[in-house]
Amino acid sequence: MTRLPVLVDTDPGLDDALAILLVLAHPGFALRGVTTLAGNIGLERTTANAGALLALAGRHDVPLHAGAGAPLMRAGVDEAAIHGADGLGGVALPVPVPARTGSAVHFLAEMLRAEPAGSLTLLCLGPLTNLAHLIRTAPDAARRIGRVVAMGGTIREPGNVGPMSEFNLAFDPEAADAVLRAALDLTLVPLDATRRVRASRDTVASLLAVASPLGQKAGEIIRAYFLDAATRESRPLHDPCVPLLLLRPDLFPAQTLRLRVDLSEGPDAGRLHVDPAGHPVRVALGADGEAALTLLVESLR
Ligand code: RIB
Ligand code: CA
Repeated sequence: MTRLPVLVDTDPGLDDALAILLVLAHPGFALRGVTTLAGNIGLERTTANAGALLALAGRHDVPLHAGAGAPLMRAGVDEAAIHGADGLGGVALPVPVPARTGSAVHFLAEMLRAEPAGSLTLLCLGPLTNLAHLIRTAPDAARRIGRVVAMGGTIREPGNVGPMSEFNLAFDPEAADAVLRAALDLTLVPLDATRRVRASRDTVASLLAVASPLGQKAGEIIRAYFLDAATRESRPLHDPCVPLLLLRPDLFPAQTLRLRVDLSEGPDAGRLHVDPAGHPVRVALGADGEAALTLLVESLR
C-alpha cells in the first residue's frame, strides 16, 4: 500500500483525536505535519492535545505548529461543554510533543513549496481559519495543495450550532467563504455524512479490548464522548470521517454542489446555501456508517 502524504489541521477535541489516532495507526497515511487552531477549545489546549496524541504514538518526528487563536473576524463559539475543560474529556495522555517555533501558516507554506505540487493532502478537522490565512498570505503555496478534505457544514441535516449551521463553519464563516472561493480541490464532509457514522458503547468495549495502545486510548476517548451524553445510545464520529473517506471513498457517496456560505450575523452564520451562483464543491452526502465504523475499529486494532 502506498502511503498518502497528509497534513492534519485540527482543534482536538474528542472526535479530532480519534481521527488523528486513525491517521497515526493506519499504514495508508504518511503524516507530514500537524497544525492546530482554536475551535472546540482554546489554541493552547488544542495544541497540547495534538502534541499529547503524537507523544502517545511516539511520533516526536512529526512537526507540530500552532495556528490561529481566533476566527478571522468574529468572536468564537464555546464548545467546552462537549469536549470537557481540557478538550479531551479528561482522558489521560502523555506529556505532549512540544509545538515547534513558527506559525502553522508559515510551516504549511514552507512544506507546500518544498514538496512536489499536488503531492500533499490536507485534512481539515476544525474551523478553516488556518487554511484561509494560508490562501490570503501564501496563495502560491495554497495552489500547490493536492486536495483538501474538510469536515464541515450541513446540507439537509439539522445543524449543531444554529438550526442549519454546523460548528466548524459557524465558528469562522469568513474563513469558510475564503476557502470555497479559492477553487481548491475541496471535498466537504458535512453532518449529512458524519451523523451516519456512530459509535456505541459496544464500540468502546471493542476498542478497550484491543492490544494496541492507540486502540485502547481511542476506546477511552469514545467513552469520554458519552460522558456528556449518558442517555444517548450512540455518538457521531464527525472528524474520523475525513481520513475514513480518504481510505474508502466508496463508503461516502458524494456529489458536486454549488455552495455559498452565509455571512450573516444571526443563527444562520456559516450556513451553507445550495446556490447556482455558488462555488462548485464535492460534498459527501451520505455514509455507509457500519462499514466506516468497522474500518475505524479494525484500523485501530
Ligand atoms: O460539527 C462537528 C465539528 O465541530 C467537529 O470537527 C468537532 O470536532 C467540532 O469541532
Ligand atoms: Ca474538530
